[in-house]
Amino acid sequence: VNLSESRDLPADKVIALYAANGWSAASKPQELCNALHNSHSIVSAWIGKELVGLGNALSDGFLVVYYPHLLVLPSYHGQGIGGRILEHLKMKYHGFHQHILVADGRTIEFYKKHGFEQAGSTQPMWIYQGADH
Ligand SMILES: CC(C)(COP(=O)(O)OP(=O)(O)OC[C@H]1O[C@@H](n2cnc3c(N)ncnc32)[C@H](O)[C@@H]1OP(=O)(O)O)[C@@H](O)C(=O)NCCC(=O)NCCS
Repeated sequence: VNLSESRDLPADKVIALYAANGWSAASKPQELCNALHNSHSIVSAWIGKELVGLGNALSDGFLVVYYPHLLVLPSYHGQGIGGRILEHLKMKYHGFHQHILVADGRTIEFYKKHGFEQAGSTQPMWIYQGADH
């Protein structure tokens, strides 16, 4: 598995990765590609020419980094790919005051293994157009 920080990701492969995980962003392909391109960082994981995983970060560049998306092709789950992408992003923002994300319920153990914890007594809040959580 090779990791890349390139912003020039093939749209068809990106959409296929989101669709394979049932993520609603796949239904807004142009916005999704623009969003990834505009992210502070994107890390993609490749096996040959196959896009097998992707994670992005939004950041002010100094204090706070937020990780909106992290996903791996379902047939490659549990092989350490998501962990590698997350560690790569964490390292890039090492020392920042706050690394924050909204963990899907099934992924809490995964994020705990990578050093995240429940954010004090806070509760995530959003205005959301999707129906996949
Ligand atoms: C969550 C996700 C990114 C983890 O990536 P991954 O490459 O499968 O994870 P890794 O192999 O690095 O780590 C495996 C750990 O992840 C956790 N995990 C969460 N969902 C999993 C799944 N569907 N399959 C396997 N492991 C999963 C387990 O705790 C596992 O720990 P274990 O190896 O001790 O059993 C990936 O499973 C995924 O894309 N899930 C669907 C999308 C999603 O929910 N993303 C997170 C949004 S907040």
